[in-house]
Amino acid sequence: MSSLVYVSRAADGYYKDRDSLAKLTSISSAKNQVEQLTGLLLFSNGFFIQLIDGPHDALTQTFGRIQRDNSHKDIEMLSFAAGDKRVFPNWSMNIIEIKESIGQAESRIFNIRRAFSHNPMLHCIDALEAFLAPKQPTAEPFSDSL
Ligand SMILES: Cc1cc2nc3c(=O)[nH]c(=O)nc-3n(C[C@H](O)[C@H](O)[C@H](O)COP(=O)(O)O)c2cc1C
Repeated sequence: MSSLVYVSRAADGYYKDRDSLAKLTSISSAKNQVEQLTGLLLFSNGFFIQLIDGPHDALTQTFGRIQRDNSHKDIEMLSFAAGDKRVFPNWSMNIIEIKESIGQAESRIFNIRRAFSHNPMLHCIDALEAFLAPKQPTAEPFSDSL
C-alpha cells in the first residue's frame, strides 16, 4: 500500500463548470475501482489537490496517466510514501469543491506545499488538514516586540 499526494492547476478553459468536474470524478472513480485505488480530490478555484491510496504499481501507472493529462498543469508531487492503511477506504474518488477567492485558494496551496517541505514524512491526513484549515497564515507572524 502506498499513498500519493500532488497539487495541480486546471489548464486554461478546463473545469469551469460542475459538469466537467462531475465527469472527471466519475471517470476517475470507475478506473480507480478496477485498480483498487481510493482517495479524495479537492478543487478550489482552479487548483487541485489529490490524495490517492492503493497498490504501489497501480498508483504509479495511474499517476503516469494523470501527469499526461493536458486538462491540468503545474503538477507537483508532494508525497509518495508507503503506508499501512487507506485514508478514505470507502471513496474510489470523491470530489470536494471549495468556493473561495483566488487569493484564498493560492494560500491553501502555499500552506500544503509548505507543510510537506517542512516535513516530507508528514502523514497525508495531516497535510489535508493543513489544506482544509480556512485561515492559515501565509507567513510567519511578526513578533510583538518588534
Ligand atoms: C485532477 C485530476 C485527477 C484525476 N484523477 C484520476 C484518478 O484518480 N484516477 C484515474 O484513473 N484518472 C484520474 N484522472 C484522469 C486521468 O488523467 C485520465 O484522463 C484518465 O484516467 C483516462 O485516461 P486514458 O484516456 O488514458 O484512459 C485525473 C485527472 C485530473 C485532471
